[in-house]
Amino acid sequence: MTTVLSRTEVYALLALSLACFGVLINTFQGDGEPLIASVAFSGLAFSSCYALIRWLGDAFMRRGFKGKDMCKLKQTEIPETMGAVCAMVYLLVLVMFIPWPFYKDIVAATSGGGNRDVMKELEEVDTGRFLHRFPHSKLASYLSAIISLQSIVLLGIGDDLFDIRWRHKLFIPAISAIPMLIVYFVDFGVTQVVVPTPLRAYLGELVDLGWLYYIYMALLSIFSANSINILAGINGIEVAQSLVIAGLIVVNDAFYLVFTPYPHPATDSHLFSLYLLLPFIGVSLALLKHNWYPARVFVGDTYCYFAGMVFAVDGILGHFSKTLVLVLLPQGFNFVYSAPQLFHLVPCPRHRLPHFNARTGLLEPSRVDFKRPLARPIAESLKLLHRLRLLDVETDEAGVVVSSSNFTIINLWLVWFGPMREDRLALGLLGFQAAVGGLGLFIRHRMALLIFTQDNL
Ligand code: UD1
Ligand code: MG
Repeated sequence: MTTVLSRTEVYALLALSLACFGVLINTFQGDGEPLIASVAFSGLAFSSCYALIRWLGDAFMRRGFKGKDMCKLKQTEIPETMGAVCAMVYLLVLVMFIPWPFYKDIVAATSGGGNRDVMKELEEVDTGRFLHRFPHSKLASYLSAIISLQSIVLLGIGDDLFDIRWRHKLFIPAISAIPMLIVYFVDFGVTQVVVPTPLRAYLGELVDLGWLYYIYMALLSIFSANSINILAGINGIEVAQSLVIAGLIVVNDAFYLVFTPYPHPATDSHLFSLYLLLPFIGVSLALLKHNWYPARVFVGDTYCYFAGMVFAVDGILGHFSKTLVLVLLPQGFNFVYSAPQLFHLVPCPRHRLPHFNARTGLLEPSRVDFKRPLARPIAESLKLLHRLRLLDVETDEAGVVVSSSNFTIINLWLVWFGPMREDRLALGLLGFQAAVGGLGLFIRHRMALLIFTQDNL
């Protein structure tokens, strides 16, 4: 990989950065315009991440952060763990952005011009001037998001360094989720769910899930972080699927901001969601540019966990965790489909990414050989899946199952549509994901009225 930026790249990145910087300076004239500032910060995040990935690639390789591209004829080594660069830039941008969403409140809470010393009224002595009007709880949400994301990045980098075991990896997102769950508890604390109309006769209008709701949110963090990591292995798929998810959530947020009259309780939480997502999109686009087929860098587990946690934090603190589940449906399907291998009902090889056929240059489903015969019920289930065209199973003359395609939707796609080139495979899966997620959102808002008495739009 060339570590120097081409002249065109330098000019383009400089132009973008300067424009964003100008916009940022301008936001000081009005109310701080946090949304516009967030867009500008995302542009800055994109250009700095783009340049850093390029500059740091070699340094990462020297420290051993590298991997072989297994789906290529020449398996050259390229830098890995570039997600760490994304995550660092992202976290720093989130920190620098802090004053903007609170600018208005800071002005209102002081006597103006940032002057906190002027005291006018006696009563203000008791109330600590107007500072009690400052939305500390919102700041706490924001800070807890940052802490949760920082801890997941630590895990990701640890994993890329030492290859942590799956059974340990699985639970770490739940620990990272604690800061945001605590803030959720103190600030929002709603653990009731609205019961669909047909079930109301039995359950009433609301059911309080209590602490079960916290378990649900912790599980959502575990799922979100790990599900992206196991839908991986071909160039670009980790980042691009995250961008599709982020894009769908942004569309959903935009619905609320455009169609609900302000001020509306949902507006603030969807703005909050955008503040977290826009810079994420910025850094991810910069990474995708380098990770798309033919990849010049790998993203590493750091990126997968980080991206998954951004969605979990966003959905939980933005109060739309159930909508989040809808846009994660393809990942959910892949998780369930992978379960027999993840839980070792059938053997799980270290890598399940598709097999590269050097003769055709195309990807084929990768397979797992069953050296020991499978238990009868498992073998029969695999044969059933084969008949349903949900798996490609090979049997010997005696009818004993000897091998099958690996249990990921990436391989399933190849079973369905035959061998294809790596980028076409990625595009197919992404199209499928966008369609399912889009349909999910559509159903969420159109059909909500069938099972609930009102849509919260
Ligand atoms: C997960 C998957 C594993 C898959 C791997 C690929 C499960 C349980 N684990 O493991 O099946 O093979 O991700 O990321 O589902 N690589 C490529 N091309 C790519 C991306 C990655 O060849 O486009 C290879 C590179 O050699 C890279 C390695 O995969 O070094 C990264 O694997 P890693 O992320 O460490 O695997 P896991 O997350 O443990
Ligand atoms: Mg991985």
